[in-house]
Amino acid sequence: MASYDRIVILTGAGLSAESGVSTFRDPNGIWAKYDWRDVATPEGFAKNPQAVHEFYNMRRRSHAEVKPNAAHLALAHLEANHGGVTIITQNVDALHEAAGSTSLIHMHGQALQALCAKCQHRHPWRDDLSIETACPSCKVVGAMRPDVVWFGEIPYHMERISGVLRNCDLFISIGTSGNVYPAAGFVAEARASGAHTVELNLEPSEGASLFQEAIYGPATQVVPAYVEKILSAHNNY
Ligand code: OAD
Repeated sequence: MASYDRIVILTGAGLSAESGVSTFRDPNGIWAKYDWRDVATPEGFAKNPQAVHEFYNMRRRSHAEVKPNAAHLALAHLEANHGGVTIITQNVDALHEAAGSTSLIHMHGQALQALCAKCQHRHPWRDDLSIETACPSCKVVGAMRPDVVWFGEIPYHMERISGVLRNCDLFISIGTSGNVYPAAGFVAEARASGAHTVELNLEPSEGASLFQEAIYGPATQVVPAYVEKILSAHNNY
């Protein structure tokens, strides 16, 4: 393997699957049980805010109980021993942080955070939210929402993401089905910048043909092995 200086890693639900967090599009995934239009759009929230709160209350509670797996830990180890790693995650869980990653972009927001639609303040949040929750900052009741990006909303930090994609020489996509844009388009952006592109996933994603290299298997196996290859090439350079 060549040695790489600026590595961008895109992660999706498959990375957290072996920690016990549900993926979205697998046969037992979240979108097999819930209609995304009801629980993950601004329109769904406007129509039935309490139902949307209950969906995210359930996810928030389940996220509080899970632990990072060997793949999250391997990515934190890579960051600590490389110096040029940025992780962009579509996951709203806090497992990258729990593993020790710090160079991290939560493009779809965070389940353990709440946002006041009135004053725009963000708050760490572990309790349930409801239509009766008051914002701790402006005290307005009924304007709190999960700080997650819904379909139809613009993902967070897109300018910073474009910058790191323009400058990377290795792009790795892990545990994502490649169904949701703009994240699904990052591989093409990285490739246009001259980066080597790699998919690590249980199975070929929608965009599999866009990657120059692919390794298929559970994240807890393929990610630590790939991280070791990157670090040994980097250290021998
Ligand atoms: P998906 O559920 O669409 O895809 C998960 C991918 O992970 C699939 O390709 C699986 O094959 C793979 N996978 C499952 N278990 C795995 C394992 N143990 N190891 C490696 N790979 C595994 O999830 P995302 O691509 O993350 O957005 O979904 C993208 C976005 O769609 C989410 O952020 C969410 C969702 O709707 C919003 O809610 C806005």
